Amino acid sequence: QSIINTGKPYSLRQIISKSTRICKCFSKRKFSDISRKFLSFDEVAAQRRAEAKRSLVVQVNSEASFNELYGYCSKYASVNGIHHYKNSGDEHFMLIEFKTEEESKNVIHSCSSHQKDVDVMALHSPFLWFRAVSGKKEAFQIPKSQLMTTKGCNSIDEDNLIEELANCEDVSEQIQQMHDRTALNDLGVRLRYMVARQIERIFESLYANIVVRPFGSSVNGFGKMGCDLDLVLTNILNEEMCDSSKRLVYQEKKCEGGRSPWQRHMELVGELLELRVPGATRVQRILHARVPIVKYAHEFTDVDCDLCYNNMSGVYMSELLWLYGSLDPRVRPLTFVVRRWAQTVGLTNQHPGRWITNFPLTLMVLFFLQQKGKDGCVLPSLKTLVQYAGKEDIRLAEENLNCTFLRDMNKLPTDTYGQNKANLETLLLQFFEFYAQFDFHDKAISINEGVAIRKPNTLPLYIVNPLEQALNVSRNVSYEECERLKLEVRNAAWLLDAGLDGKKTDGWGILGLIERKSTRGLKNLLKVGNSHRLVSVKDLFNNDDDKIEKVKAKRDSE
Ligand code: GTP
Ligand code: MG
Repeated sequence: QSIINTGKPYSLRQIISKSTRICKCFSKRKFSDISRKFLSFDEVAAQRRAEAKRSLVVQVNSEASFNELYGYCSKYASVNGIHHYKNSGDEHFMLIEFKTEEESKNVIHSCSSHQKDVDVMALHSPFLWFRAVSGKKEAFQIPKSQLMTTKGCNSIDEDNLIEELANCEDVSEQIQQMHDRTALNDLGVRLRYMVARQIERIFESLYANIVVRPFGSSVNGFGKMGCDLDLVLTNILNEEMCDSSKRLVYQEKKCEGGRSPWQRHMELVGELLELRVPGATRVQRILHARVPIVKYAHEFTDVDCDLCYNNMSGVYMSELLWLYGSLDPRVRPLTFVVRRWAQTVGLTNQHPGRWITNFPLTLMVLFFLQQKGKDGCVLPSLKTLVQYAGKEDIRLAEENLNCTFLRDMNKLPTDTYGQNKANLETLLLQFFEFYAQFDFHDKAISINEGVAIRKPNTLPLYIVNPLEQALNVSRNVSYEECERLKLEVRNAAWLLDAGLDGKKTDGWGILGLIERKSTRGLKNLLKVGNSHRLVSVKDLFNNDDDKIEKVKAKRDSE
């Protein structure tokens, strides 16, 4: 995979380290899976959910307690693996995975509560703490095979990352490295599934058949360390649960009053998070949005969460992005660098507003990869995935939204994708060049079609919602922000192109695009006499596209 992405072989040290990771990965898969090239999103999610059901997160006093905790737990149950991390409050935690769900349940039931205290109402949840004891402690040693090597799940140190990228051989290696070093790691994913599991456990007596699923960047393959956690709560009943031939039926409560029942329930969820969910803080209710959500911060795991109800289309959308990311190993690294560049130049912003967000930006990358250049495309259109869908792929989301597309990529004919073998460096440059020339004025971006389509209205940026094609996922983007997007893709194309002369000056390759002091790359470019290639913000805002062309033509002739 790395050889394909970067177009060059790795050093022996890198190959050994990567092979070890691959072997670990395979050892977790059943032998029969190995012959299948692609796992499905549902298989991965089911495996992660089962893992969370077998696991507990325990706060400990210090690193000195790790072995003691391991010894204590292994008296009750057999431990599969143990991970250590620290949260931003410098508190130590251990995530312990037991061999079976039964064993983890036994451990939970054997725990004690706080001393009787009217302010603290007892509750069983998979988040625990390990009481310190005085006196002589039994000596235990965690077996090396069970102490997982992931060193926490905090974002990687920025200076180290920049230094590592500066030492790469070429731009493709930089892009791959940035992905490998910043992508959400195994522990980050485990903890996110634990946060989901905690809500499920605490709410299960209130809502029958409750499932809390992570979606968005935590599971779509494009999440970086420290990314937010989008959660959807469903309590969909299957046919057996609604069997009209059964005579004993539950007495259930009807939600009365004018407002939407789920708006009221989300209000309750907000209250419960505040009162009953250990670790949940800073609860905010945003109930009048199209999709009502409750936001909260989970302080044991340092994860910011957005919880909504019944939004299965969000989950299917994440599945779609995940499938595209798994289809070709270049998709995720390329998307990571584009997301990071957009953050650096201020096109995206963590607060909602009139600017583009990571989700539509990811659709822009997928759309670019669907373009059939002279060598063919990297990714197929969504139309193709729908065409090969079978009965087992039929999914209806809320309001009967049809979310049917092929789920098992092993069934996708290999001539429908992957003909374009360009390396990451080439693809990144082509991405910026493609959008530098894209007709945003008249055309809409549609991953359904894989080709630009006519815009149905005059909104500045039009990116078709893949699962609800009448909607535009970038409807919030203002004219000014769209102009800035055009400006930044042009500048990025020029910056990257100018840096491809093989000279590793300060800020070479993608560093000029992703370093926080983004002007550094621009300054270097100006130093080497390329200033005529850049378009200024003033030129763009004072002029329409024709005028920009004139400015460019004038500069070129100079
Ligand atoms: P970051 O949180 O920025 O890392 O990326 P994200 O992919 O998680 O995006 P975000 O939190 O904004 O949205 C979460 C998920 O909701 C996305 O991955 C999509 O699956 C879905 N989503 C976001 N925006 C829209 C939209 O406008 N329409 C629909 N149907 N789904 C959306
Ligand atoms: Mg998100």
